Amino acid sequence: MNMSSLTSTPEWQAVAAHAETMRAVHLRDLFADDPGRADRMHVEAAGWYLDYAKHRVSAETLDRLLALADARGLRAAVDAMFAGERVNVTEDRAALHVALRAPRSASIVVDGNDVVPDVHAVLDRMGAFAERIRAGKTTAVVNIGIGGSDLGPAMAYTALRAYSDQRLTVRYVANVDGADLLRALQGLDLATTLFVVASKTFTTIETLTNARAARALIVDAFGRNAVADHFVAVSTNAEEVAKFGIDTENMFEFWDWVGGRYSVWSAIGLSLMIAIGPDQFGEMLAGAHAMDEHFRTAPHDKNLPVLMALFEFWYRVFLDAQSQAVVPYAQVLELLPAYLQQLEMESNGKSVTGTGEPVDTHTGQIVWGTPGTNGQHAYFQLLHQGTALVPVDFIGCMRPQPGLDLPGHQDLLVANMLAQSEALAFGRTRAEVDTPARVMPGNRPSSVLLCDQLTPFALGALIAAYEHKVMTLGTLWGIDSFDQWGVELGKALAGRIADELDAADDANLGHDPSTNALIRRYRSRRR
Ligand code: F6P
Repeated sequence: MNMSSLTSTPEWQAVAAHAETMRAVHLRDLFADDPGRADRMHVEAAGWYLDYAKHRVSAETLDRLLALADARGLRAAVDAMFAGERVNVTEDRAALHVALRAPRSASIVVDGNDVVPDVHAVLDRMGAFAERIRAGKTTAVVNIGIGGSDLGPAMAYTALRAYSDQRLTVRYVANVDGADLLRALQGLDLATTLFVVASKTFTTIETLTNARAARALIVDAFGRNAVADHFVAVSTNAEEVAKFGIDTENMFEFWDWVGGRYSVWSAIGLSLMIAIGPDQFGEMLAGAHAMDEHFRTAPHDKNLPVLMALFEFWYRVFLDAQSQAVVPYAQVLELLPAYLQQLEMESNGKSVTGTGEPVDTHTGQIVWGTPGTNGQHAYFQLLHQGTALVPVDFIGCMRPQPGLDLPGHQDLLVANMLAQSEALAFGRTRAEVDTPARVMPGNRPSSVLLCDQLTPFALGALIAAYEHKVMTLGTLWGIDSFDQWGVELGKALAGRIADELDAADDANLGHDPSTNALIRRYRSRRR
C-alpha cells in the first residue's frame, strides 16, 4: 500500500483534523468532562491490565484511529501473519513467531509444510537437553550471540532468574569488545562451562569472534576433543555450524521465518530454558500464546496491543513525539528497554514502505528507559517539566517474585509508579504553587500496565503484546516490520575497515577524508 495515498484518505485526514483540536486539550479537562473515563478506559488480556485513561485521547480520537486502522487493513494483515503468509515482503518470507508458541494441537502451514510439529520437535529436543544439563555437572552456561540472539534470552533470564536453578550461573556475551567475554568468564570453572553459540546466520562477526576465542580457551585447556562437550549451536545454518567445528548433532535449529528479534521463543531461548527448566519455558510460551489469541480475536477497541500501537502512532505522527519511555517498576525488567529498542527500532525504523515508496510521515519511535524508581532521580525532571512530549509505559506488578520480597518495598515501588503517572498527567498549576519554577504543566500521557506477578507466563504475554504493538504500527505505516536492511552497510564497511586496519599499507584507503584520517590515526597510534 502506498503511504502517500494513505495520507490523503478520508480516514487519515479525519485523524489529522481531529489532532488539531486535541492539541490544546488538557488531560485535566478530559477527566473533568468525562467522569466515567477511568471506568471505561482499561482493558485486560492474558493477565495484563492496561489503564489508558491518562492518554490524551477522547472517545472520538479512538474512533478515528480505529477507523484508520481498519482502512489500513489491520484485520487482514493480522490474519495474514498468523496464516504464515509472506508478510516479510522485502525478504519474501513469513514472520511466524506466533507458531513458536502455538500448542501441539495447532496447525500452521508454510509452503505446504505444517511447521507446528517441527517447532515441538525442537522444543522436545531442547527440553531433553536442558534436563540433562540441569541434572549433570555443568555449573555455568555462557550464551554467545548478539542482537536478537542475545537480547531476548538475556532480558528474559534476568527477568525470570527467581525461577531459575540457582546452582547454575548463566551469562551473556554479545559485544566484540574483549572486555565482554572476559568479564563473562570471570570466576567460572571452564571444565564445567557450556557455551551456547546462538546465531541465526552463523556469520555474524561479533558472535563468531567471541565463539572462536571461547573455543581456543577450551582447546588450550582440554584439547580439541573437548569442543563437543563444551559447545552447542543454535542456528538456521547447519553448514556454517559444521564449518565452525560444532557437530550438527549438537545444534538446535530454527527457521528463516523466525526474525532475530522475534526469536527468544525458539531454540535461541536455550540458555533460558536450561536456567528455568522446560516447564517454565513452556509457561512463557503459553503466556505469549494467550496474548496471540487475544490479539488475533479481540475487537480492536478492546485489543491491548492494538490500543498501545494506536497511542504510539497518535503521539508520533500527529502530536510530534519523538520518543517513548518504558519504565518498569520491577528491577528484574532492567533489560526490557534494551530489548524493546531492538524490537521496535529495528522493526519500524524505516522510511520506505514494503513496496518501496517513501513514507511521508514520521515513523519508528525512539524507545528508551530504565527501571523505576531510579529514573525518577535522573531523567524524570525532563519528563515532568521539559519541552519534549515523551509518553511513558509504566509497568508494574502487584506482588514481587518468589524470594524477592522485603517488607514495605513493593508498596513503595507501586506508590511511586502511580504517583509518577498522576503527576505527569495532572501536574500543578500556577495557582497551586508560589513560583513558576514549581509549575508542573501536566498533560503528559502514560499507560499503566499491571500484572499480578511477573511469572514466566506474564513475561511471555508482555513480550508478545509489544511484538504485536510493533506489527500493528508497521501495518499502519505500511512498512515491513520484519526486515532490517539498514544494518547491512555498516557491517560491510566494518569488514573492509577491519582488513585495512590490519593491512601493511594505508595509502589507498578510498573512504571519505574524515574516515581515512581516523583510520590512519588509529593505525599510527594503536600500539
Ligand atoms: O543487527 C542485525 C541482526 O541481523 C539482528 O537482526 C540480529 O538479531 C542480529 O543481527 C544477530 O544475527 P544472528 O543471529 O544471525 O547472529
